[in-house]
Amino acid sequence: MMHPVDFIREKRDGKSHDPAALGAWVRAFTAGEVPDYQVAAWLMAVYFRGLNEDETLALTEAMASSGEMLDLEGLGPTVDKHSSGGVGDKTTLVVAPILAAAGAVVAKMSGRGLAHTGGTIDKLESIPGFRSSLDKDEFLRQAKTVGMVVAGQSADLAPADGRLYALRDVTATVDSIPLIASSIMSKKLAAGAGAIVLDVKVGKGAFMKTPEAAKELAALMVRLGRRAGRRVAAVISRMDQPLGQAVGNAIEVQEAIRTLNGEGPADLTELALTLAEEGLALAGLPPERARAVWQSGSALAKFREFVAAQGGDPRVVDEPERLALAPEVEEVRADSGGVVSALDALKVGVAAMRLGGGREKKGDPVDHGVGVYLLKKIGDPVRPGEVLARLYHRGRGLEEARALVASAYRVAEAAETPSLVVEVVR
Ligand code: URA
Repeated sequence: MMHPVDFIREKRDGKSHDPAALGAWVRAFTAGEVPDYQVAAWLMAVYFRGLNEDETLALTEAMASSGEMLDLEGLGPTVDKHSSGGVGDKTTLVVAPILAAAGAVVAKMSGRGLAHTGGTIDKLESIPGFRSSLDKDEFLRQAKTVGMVVAGQSADLAPADGRLYALRDVTATVDSIPLIASSIMSKKLAAGAGAIVLDVKVGKGAFMKTPEAAKELAALMVRLGRRAGRRVAAVISRMDQPLGQAVGNAIEVQEAIRTLNGEGPADLTELALTLAEEGLALAGLPPERARAVWQSGSALAKFREFVAAQGGDPRVVDEPERLALAPEVEEVRADSGGVVSALDALKVGVAAMRLGGGREKKGDPVDHGVGVYLLKKIGDPVRPGEVLARLYHRGRGLEEARALVASAYRVAEAAETPSLVVEVVR
């Protein structure tokens, strides 16, 4: 391998790395042969100088192969789904059963929530009995028998990304498009699916604040995946206001079940069907099956089967009110009348976290019952004194959460309602 100082200097001076040398660098720091301060210095050089597409692909593939690469070959048409993170984003819980009911195999590893964004695993763990730690044999067996399995991300999946991400987090180098793209795609490549559908969020509550940046990230991830031999598409969707009406854990699972039942909010339903159609097309299955299995109830039945297979109480699927919410309810009311013109996703996400629904730091326990229910969203008319949102709480963080939700709303005379799906990048 090139000497670390020479390698860092190459990027500092704006030169391109040889892809093979970049692969050797990733293997060296994963093996503990390069100290954190040199990796951190290189990350800052990358932040300013960027990586070209060949370098980004080399980084992605080296991180993907730094741990175990799952082999899903032989399971049928496998589809993975990833969201770049948002508030109220329970889309996986709706998309995965639709895909599985339509004939695809979804063997997915998901994360826990961090900061103001929720995580699919925390949401699923609000179902009594649900087990998210599965060993590899259980994981593959359930993928085969049920066609759907969702487990916590194994520590052996792209460990080089885990190391880099932790350093990026503390060196102000997270928001670099090549670093984000390689981080996400390394985990998707290691997870083994042949088709990958990405939900790239744009707006106030997202990493990417402008449609141009979101499009650049989406297009890069699609090209990286394709060059690595996978079929990939990306849906760019707005994250200015939370998705759906529920933000929390149990409350989001309730909403996902209602959506599978045909009674969910329009935005969540639209996004889930769009993602499922793209995923089916990538897998070589008819996209129109997405809507058909959703309407026939077979996606809901698939969700029930999945919950039971992972030890969860399947009765929650028919009676979502069995998912216990915190007993105290506080209402936030409108001061004036008009139309909701803004509903800040970041503030609502932080409010749910302060109530105890998310983590202030890694490893903190999560209260599955607390959350926020948004009765009014952008474009909805409101009368003075009308209830905008309900907070389900146990006293903790209530005053701050209440103030955050109240200030997240803007009521004006009129509002623009931009469409949820901005673009699909194929
Ligand atoms: N999500 C990831 O997994 N990695 C990033 O760098 C950003 C978001």
